[in-house]
Amino acid sequence: MLKEYCQQKVVLINAALKKFVFAQNHIPAAIYEAMSYSLFAGGKRLRPILLMAAADAVGSRGDKFINMACGLEMIHTYSLIHDDLPAMDNDDYRRGKLTNHKVFGEAMAILAGDGLLTLAFEVMLNQPDVKEKNLLLTIHEIAVSAGARGMVGGQALDLMSEGRTIDVETLRRMHEAKTGALFGAALRCGGLLGGATDEQLAALTVYAQKFGLAFQITDDILDVTGQQSVMGKPVGSDEKNHKATYVSLYSLSQAKSMAEDTVKEACEALNVFDRKADILRSLALQLLERSC
Ligand code: IPE
Ligand code: IPE
Ligand code: MG
Ligand code: MG
Ligand code: MG
Repeated sequence: MLKEYCQQKVVLINAALKKFVFAQNHIPAAIYEAMSYSLFAGGKRLRPILLMAAADAVGSRGDKFINMACGLEMIHTYSLIHDDLPAMDNDDYRRGKLTNHKVFGEAMAILAGDGLLTLAFEVMLNQPDVKEKNLLLTIHEIAVSAGARGMVGGQALDLMSEGRTIDVETLRRMHEAKTGALFGAALRCGGLLGGATDEQLAALTVYAQKFGLAFQITDDILDVTGQQSVMGKPVGSDEKNHKATYVSLYSLSQAKSMAEDTVKEACEALNVFDRKADILRSLALQLLERSC
């Protein structure tokens, strides 16, 4: 059921992303190609899927919020392009292909990121069939989550922690910001757009926090135990950059059991929901089995 659900959403998301990007084909070819390259390099489309699944869980139809979902994927893709730059993680592969700066050069990669980030807001503001007040509320939440109070701030903490031993509390906050914040925006905005009650929104907030943390713990684990051919990005990047991660601070087996506990907590947060939240339940459980 999860597989079919994700496949159906990925088809929908990819078609909409194509439409939004093709509408930009009057822009200079170099930036158009650089933006399209990373956006269509693959990618699990997890954030847009979570937005839609949260809307479905509260009894709405997630597919309706395709502009908001695609905006999140554009912001995420920009964050990956910049994350891979020589000044950041200096990685050569992403989504199974050479990283953006390896193909288009550093300057164009920076601009491709900037272009995707701003296009995201243009696309989200064109989301049809949502009341203006709700649209402003959700886009504001996405802006905060993507910025220095969220993902960008977490990325800054990540860089500042290179080569240093940080305490577990700081590590958790860093992971929640650099990875959890966008997941939080996806889930909460899916809920808000779908008409969640206060109780449902509170539950989605806790689920998102746990999901994001578990996702980054498993990302840290895969950076040690994964296969580049499956993940599409290099293994050993964190060690190369002396990153503070759950694996560097704990042992591999401790990190695994922390991921398990966190996934359990994510599922428990969904107890206020009926079967319509089964996709969210499966998505959390699947984190423990993921290989990419
Ligand atoms: C990778 O995210 C970056 C992290 C937050 C760890 P994903 O694993 O969702 O990457 P794609 O979108 O599938 O490439
Ligand atoms: C980056 O975390 C998360 C982002 C906000 C892009 P990582 O640096 O661990 O992500 P990967 O492993 O390169 O995908
Ligand atoms: Mg990084
Ligand atoms: Mg990285
Ligand atoms: Mg990583």
